[in-house]
Amino acid sequence: MFVNFRRINKCQCVRLMTTCLLLSVAMLCWEQLDERVVSHVKSYSHRYLGNHFAYINKSLTVSREHARAFSDFRYLLDHPDKCVGKDVLLLLLVKTSPENIDRRNAIRSTWGNETYIRNHLGVTVVVLFVLGAPRTEEGEPSWSKRSGVGFQGRLVDEDRLHGDMIQQDFLDSFHNLTLKLILQFRWTHGRCAHAHFLMTADDDVFVHMPNLVSYLRDVKAEGIADFWIGRVHRGAPPIRSKDSKYYVPFEMYPWASYPDYTAGAGYVLSGDVADKIYQATLTLNASLYIDDVFMGICANAVGVSPQEHVYFSGEGKAPYHPCIYDQMMTSHGHVEDIYDLWKAATAPQVKERTSGAMGTLYCKAVKIFLLCKPYSFNTYPCSAAYL
Ligand SMILES: *[C@@H]1O[C@H](CO)[C@@H](O)[C@H](O)[C@H]1NC(C)=O
Ligand SMILES: *[C@@H]1O[C@H](CO)[C@@H](O)[C@H](O)[C@H]1NC(C)=O
Ligand SMILES: *[C@@H]1O[C@H](CO)[C@@H](O)[C@H](O)[C@H]1NC(C)=O
Ligand SMILES: *[C@@H]1O[C@H](CO)[C@@H](O)[C@H](O)[C@H]1NC(C)=O
Repeated sequence: MFVNFRRINKCQCVRLMTTCLLLSVAMLCWEQLDERVVSHVKSYSHRYLGNHFAYINKSLTVSREHARAFSDFRYLLDHPDKCVGKDVLLLLLVKTSPENIDRRNAIRSTWGNETYIRNHLGVTVVVLFVLGAPRTEEGEPSWSKRSGVGFQGRLVDEDRLHGDMIQQDFLDSFHNLTLKLILQFRWTHGRCAHAHFLMTADDDVFVHMPNLVSYLRDVKAEGIADFWIGRVHRGAPPIRSKDSKYYVPFEMYPWASYPDYTAGAGYVLSGDVADKIYQATLTLNASLYIDDVFMGICANAVGVSPQEHVYFSGEGKAPYHPCIYDQMMTSHGHVEDIYDLWKAATAPQVKERTSGAMGTLYCKAVKIFLLCKPYSFNTYPCSAAYL
């Protein structure tokens, strides 16, 4: 059977082609418009029509005795005097797990090197690793059994060498991350309350320490109350699919969206906010194990909201380029490349290449190219190119 093309007139042909085009675009887009997007839209309307989460405080509030159960763990490793007698600009707490010794060593000799920061940047930054207890028996790697030291023995040795680990006696696991968060705020409150800023970061994050220090110095000079900055998730909905790592049952959190919070990969608070959050942890039910969401709930309870900084990354890894290094604060997902990135990002050539009228223009073009590509979700937002 042949279609008689000559009988289809021009107008029909255009209409047919347009329809085909629209259909294929719609089919391509359908995948993007999945459940996540739909529930985002729902949560946005919920958020702006609803009464701004006045209810969260009431229903997640528990008695102080109940709340204490989330923080009352014995310290296995501690350094109570770390901040004593120092004018600490930034207390930087790195969330780590017992087995991640390579990551800790990489941080110690790159962006987390306190001596380098003091000598080259002229400020005091205290970097500490925060962890829970290692799994024993079946979870223990064979090498540690053979050596007869045990995993905890290894950690004690590592801490003796570096003196930078804070550990409490709860099992270090994904679902105990909120316990680790509470540990951080409790330790800060008790041992380093005078630090101007508190940062919490993952152990696979790259922090551009010179950029961050210079930024925080400016913020400090301007006066620093109610400061909380990072990559902000606004109106994010709880994930109700049981297959997800981030699954949260209705009983635990019944509302359609979370309060605004900053991605746990790395965010910064001023000292006053850190103290308010600590106070909030004393009366909230910390069963919700997604630590950055829980932090958002605490902040909501005490009336603090986050600010967005486009050069803090959430899940994403920053593109490798001097024009990016010139402004980056954090980038997520760096393990093996951390030494090279630290060298490249802090090289004096970065400033040379990106300064001056030509450098500025060149970098603008490069950043638009790198950050504004369609479908590149995992990096800084396109708006960062125009900063
Ligand atoms: C930290 O930096 C200092 C001075 O820049 C250097 O001597 C030291 O070796 C570094 N530490 C590590 C663990 O790399
Ligand atoms: C969290 O830590 C506690 C105390 O060690 C432990 O009993 C519990 O099983 C841990 N929870 C998870 C989900 O790992
Ligand atoms: C805290 O929340 C969990 C999960 O929703 C619940 O099972 C528990 O009973 C709550 N604790 C208190 C003290 O209300
Ligand atoms: C919850 O709300 C009550 C009443 O508004 C307030 O007194 C209390 O301080 C709030 N709780 C927290 C943890 O901020």
